[in-house]
Amino acid sequence: MTQLASADKKKRATKAKPAAMKSLEVEGHEPTVGKVFTENPKMTMRNVNVYYDDKQAIHDVSIDIAKNEVIAMIGPSGCGKSTFLRSLNRMNDTVDICRVEGEICMDGENLYAPKLDVVELRARVGMVFQKPNPFPKSIYENVAYGPKIHGLADTRVDLDEIVENSLRKASLWEEVKERLHQAGTGLSGGQQQRLCIARAIAVSPEVILMDEPCSALDPIATAKIEELIEELSENFTIAIVTHSMQQAARVSHRTAYFHLGRLIEVNPTEQVFTMPQHQLTEAYITGRFG
Ligand SMILES: Nc1ncnc2c1ncn2[C@@H]1O[C@H](COP(=O)(O)OP(=O)(O)OP(=O)(O)O)[C@@H](O)[C@H]1O
Ligand SMILES: [Mg+2]
Repeated sequence: MTQLASADKKKRATKAKPAAMKSLEVEGHEPTVGKVFTENPKMTMRNVNVYYDDKQAIHDVSIDIAKNEVIAMIGPSGCGKSTFLRSLNRMNDTVDICRVEGEICMDGENLYAPKLDVVELRARVGMVFQKPNPFPKSIYENVAYGPKIHGLADTRVDLDEIVENSLRKASLWEEVKERLHQAGTGLSGGQQQRLCIARAIAVSPEVILMDEPCSALDPIATAKIEELIEELSENFTIAIVTHSMQQAARVSHRTAYFHLGRLIEVNPTEQVFTMPQHQLTEAYITGRFG
């Protein structure tokens, strides 16, 4: 057992928080273990630190996400998964007290460059949230809205085509084609989540970020979304945060394990779940904390 893992165990056993935190601080400077960098990166993150006021939520995270890869981000509640994910398309800009440092690039372009158009960025790097959040508009309008504001369709026929294709890619078309002009909020939770995926796809993103996209869904709706993730990875790069290790194992190529704001290990998913390289990853996947 590493010093860090034993410190963690001690912390849980004795609730001796300050001492445990101290040893974590020392050990936190250990580099991430595993296959952190890739040959064909779509996104490259280097020495990323994220703060909420003076509280640091992400510590010195470096990682690549490869083109057409599905990468899962796992770890105990509060370890910074959502914070890190949201920094990839500058959603954290909407949080006043949040500050992101370090380098986050897509295809070599710095996403935090002052002249970068953030609205356009959020179309290129789309996001699907934990709770399905369709606009209070029709199914059609939910999907058509993005292409309209980004000027992706010249005619109504073009727009109809984008809407249909996006709903097909999200495996929702057959279920909604007769009711396109009814409210999106009238769909079931699983259908709403696929509508949100269709909405993200409609603006032709390059990367899709998903933050626990199935946590509000039943097993059948979850299976549909998981199937979809696999299909979508043919065209998109996907980063998914999940609390379900089974889900990470089913859908992702690599898995990143976060612990107290640090990226501990990144490895091919199968390896993470069968032969983790770090004691902390092992402790988490065997259910010792989280
Ligand atoms: N808007 C915010 N303001 C202040 N602190 C925040 C904010 N959002 C997150 N944090 C803090 O940052 C840390 C990481 O939170 P984050 O939501 O990223 O964790 P998480 O791994 O996604 O957790 P969960 O699995 O519960 O969703 C936590 O300590 C949290 O309290
Ligand atoms: Mg979260």
